[in-house]
Amino acid sequence: MGVRNPSKTRSFNLPGALLSDDLESIVEDKTIDILVEAMGGLEPARTYIEKALLAGKHVVTANKYVVSEHGDYLQRLAESKGKQFLYEASVAGSIPVIEILREEVIPDRIHAIYAILNATSNFILTRMTESGDDFHGALAKAQEMGFSEPDPSFDISGKDAGQKLAILVSILKHQPCHPDQLDTHGIDRLTPFDFQFARERQWRIKPLAIYEEVGGKGFASVEPVLVLASSIFASIRNEYNALCFDCQNIGRQIFIGKGAGELPTASALLSDLCKIMAKDAHEQLSYNPRLAAREGIQFCSSTENPRGYRFYINGSLSNNSVKRRRVREVVDQVSDVLQEPQTGQVSGAFFCAVTKKIPYSELYRILNEILSFDADAQISWLRILQDLE
Ligand SMILES: NC(=O)c1ccc[n+]([C@@H]2O[C@H](COP(=O)([O-])OP(=O)(O)OC[C@H]3O[C@@H](n4cnc5c(N)ncnc54)[C@H](OP(=O)(O)O)[C@@H]3O)[C@@H](O)[C@H]2O)c1
Repeated sequence: MGVRNPSKTRSFNLPGALLSDDLESIVEDKTIDILVEAMGGLEPARTYIEKALLAGKHVVTANKYVVSEHGDYLQRLAESKGKQFLYEASVAGSIPVIEILREEVIPDRIHAIYAILNATSNFILTRMTESGDDFHGALAKAQEMGFSEPDPSFDISGKDAGQKLAILVSILKHQPCHPDQLDTHGIDRLTPFDFQFARERQWRIKPLAIYEEVGGKGFASVEPVLVLASSIFASIRNEYNALCFDCQNIGRQIFIGKGAGELPTASALLSDLCKIMAKDAHEQLSYNPRLAAREGIQFCSSTENPRGYRFYINGSLSNNSVKRRRVREVVDQVSDVLQEPQTGQVSGAFFCAVTKKIPYSELYRILNEILSFDADAQISWLRILQDLE
């Protein structure tokens, strides 16, 4: 077993001779058939995986970073060597979502994915909803309880969930999807006022990773969204993950389970290991040949997404009454609900609105118009997923 520091005190007992910091010699060892990579980070993990595949080993990994950046190349390399490259542990911990997509466990065409894939963000938003913490208080609690890394930026920026969604979309469409192709928004701009507004209207704010097929194109995003308090997603709390697949004929299929932690991750690694051993024993193919028959898709950005959504907009503006009136006029054009909090109710908040169904391009036009006559305006927005039950 390769580690950074063989003399480190560990919570389990292993004979000292089994631990080594010489990872090169492990990768080159001809008596090792399967490499399990759980070191994390892009390099040197990617290089060791590549070397192991080139040397004719199967590889199992938990590394979403490597898979989302180089999965397509490594998968092809594995296939060219007649070996397997499996990464169930890289997405959604205990939910076997990679197998569901790769092996077509759902016997129908999937045209949308709605998922909670980042436990830290979900824990923070659960705290902000239920305990009234502000963002920093909720983050501190997540760190205290071990739900967050010392550097939480990857989680709260949406990048972690973005890597996971990119992996899922790559399998679903059988074509590379890079995290940069996603519209990614973090959770750090949310305020207690947003949660109060959501609660008053029987909504909840959840950190979603979304893939939808709109107008023949694929639109993928990671963003905090408003869902109905009665929806299943509203009940997914703390470290739990959930995935909802929208299918053409059979409707919605939903999977829920622990998305992070040592044991869910280890069990996913073990399940891949067992798959390789079972397949080797039965000399089966190392990949699903039906994947190649899947139709590809062109991805689009939010500005190109033609679908209309309702948005919640919350703005803090200058005190100038002329500017306020102009903001009101602009927001009124697209809104069903416009609320101006009483002075002192929430410091800094001047208005909040719920728009009619408009495309992102229209939302951005409105926001730019407001900023054009009030450069100091602080405006945030959330998409409303009203149809997600
Ligand atoms: N933890 C989770 O909840 C979770 C969930 C899903 C996926 N994952 C993925 O699982 C992987 C591991 O995460 P983790 O939380 O288990 O990390 P971790 O606790 O930091 O463990 C990393 C392990 O790799 C070893 N290692 C790291 N860099 C090394 C290097 N340069 N040379 C040799 N050994 C090295 C470490 O050795 P030492 O013990 O000697 O330091 C340690 O045993 C990551 O890809 C992560 O994204 C984790």
